[in-house]
Amino acid sequence: GAIRHYDFVVKESNFSRLCSSKSMLTVNDSFPGPEIHAQKGDTVFVNVRNQGTYGITIHWHGVKMPRNPWSDGPEYVTQCPIPAGTNFTQEINFSTEEGTLWWHAHSDWSRATVHGAIIVYPANGTSYPYPKPYGEQTIVLASWYKADVMEVYEEAVASGAEFNTSDAFTINGQPGALFDCSTGTTFRLAVKKGETYLLRIINAILNEELFFGIAQHNLTVVGTDGFYTKPIYTEYIMITPGQTMDVLVTANQPASYYYMAASPFSNSEAPFDNATTTAILQYMGNQSAPSPIPLPTLPGTNDSTAASNFTTKFRSLANSAHPISVPKNITKHILMTVSVNLIFCPNDSCSGTTDGDRLAASLNNQSFVFPETDILEAYTRNNFSEFTTDFPLEPPIYFNFTGDVNVTVYAGQGTKVIELEYGEVVELVYQGTNLGNAQNHPMHLHGFSFFLVGTGLGNFNNQTDPDNYNLIDPPEVNTIQLPKNGWSAIRFVADNPGVWFLHCHYERHTTWGMAVAIIVKNGGTTNTSMRPRPAYMPPCPNS
Ligand code: C2O
Ligand code: CU
Repeated sequence: GAIRHYDFVVKESNFSRLCSSKSMLTVNDSFPGPEIHAQKGDTVFVNVRNQGTYGITIHWHGVKMPRNPWSDGPEYVTQCPIPAGTNFTQEINFSTEEGTLWWHAHSDWSRATVHGAIIVYPANGTSYPYPKPYGEQTIVLASWYKADVMEVYEEAVASGAEFNTSDAFTINGQPGALFDCSTGTTFRLAVKKGETYLLRIINAILNEELFFGIAQHNLTVVGTDGFYTKPIYTEYIMITPGQTMDVLVTANQPASYYYMAASPFSNSEAPFDNATTTAILQYMGNQSAPSPIPLPTLPGTNDSTAASNFTTKFRSLANSAHPISVPKNITKHILMTVSVNLIFCPNDSCSGTTDGDRLAASLNNQSFVFPETDILEAYTRNNFSEFTTDFPLEPPIYFNFTGDVNVTVYAGQGTKVIELEYGEVVELVYQGTNLGNAQNHPMHLHGFSFFLVGTGLGNFNNQTDPDNYNLIDPPEVNTIQLPKNGWSAIRFVADNPGVWFLHCHYERHTTWGMAVAIIVKNGGTTNTSMRPRPAYMPPCPNS
């Protein structure tokens, strides 16, 4: 493959939206940030130059980073933040991914404004498994906060409040014509009648899942998370934070303007944003101008049936050009409850609480605490003061996970990690719970793509549910939509040595501890071991 170089200058710049302006952190002065383009097999070096005022890190979401956790990016997991005024060059190898992925800041909530697309084209001599589209367009869905995102973040940390609604959603940086002061800047995609376009859709929103559609146009999903899927014919998609979807749309309608729009799927009683962001599909040439411009009909904000009707349609393409290998002989079973619950704060020892307890988020009832020296650094230097390897591989308490509503279960706090032998064949079942606040969770894993072999509502039954697994053509992904009060089973082979972060892709939940790190030990050979530590890594406070 080729070697490519990018320069990312991270700095504050001024943007105006919703009738007000603010200074915010961006890469190369753009929102969304610059796209990285590569072909499968290429190596990309990104020189991240932090010209902001605080430390940041950048993560390549969905890229496996084979044997190279050093460049993966999650703060305090694989590196300490890049201090303001310094730079850090990260190396990204595109080994098996093909399609759309993305990059984003992986420190505090900076990813609200620091993110962009990664487009991985087929290697030379190969092509898309569908007719070459006439045009391609990246569609980045994001959230806009009038406030400074660092303040929003600090409030979320301090208050332990469940909801941080944004002021708007955006399509390619623009809220769209339904918002104040936004009509003239609405994003427009010009299309030619009769042609087919590939939309590379990314949900970069901090805290919400979205429905997306285009008025009077059918969509065909052909890929997700950097892997091809069997075509899914649909009027809308549901996309969770962290996910990417490749979608074909044919410009075959008679009028000149149609809205594409995204609105939230919150599936919760909570007061989430209910705003609709829009962009315009604009036909070139003479077609009649509709008035008003038609909006797509999207499912309602609590329509979990519409969401699961869509999410359960995913199948890997799994043909001879794109074979898959679903792990079969499981050597390690992990059952992991996913909860928003409480931590105990005696004598109001946690800030912002009134009743002594505060909201937390946990996996197997462990609320993750970020260490001061990153886990990768500590692990490779045999410094075991930063973490312990006793993360429980099954829930410490058994109960009716999705039935017990008014149970108070306190989470433990600490930096507990999972340690796996190289080559372990893992089945991990995420189990949603009804503690505190039942909701969906976009569960993401770094360092791997994995197969989603099963999902369902209620409590996972390890006797009967595996009978219904899809072991033929399950989707290969990096982020799943764990349904509210439900479970999802994933499989992967632990063949990537390193330290890999596993977390909910709602920022508020990761911030409160819905996360864990997985250490995959080195195998016996150079090719099964982590690459050596680069000469320069951003310094940690205590090193
Ligand atoms: Cu998209 Cu841990 O990240
Ligand atoms: Cu979550």
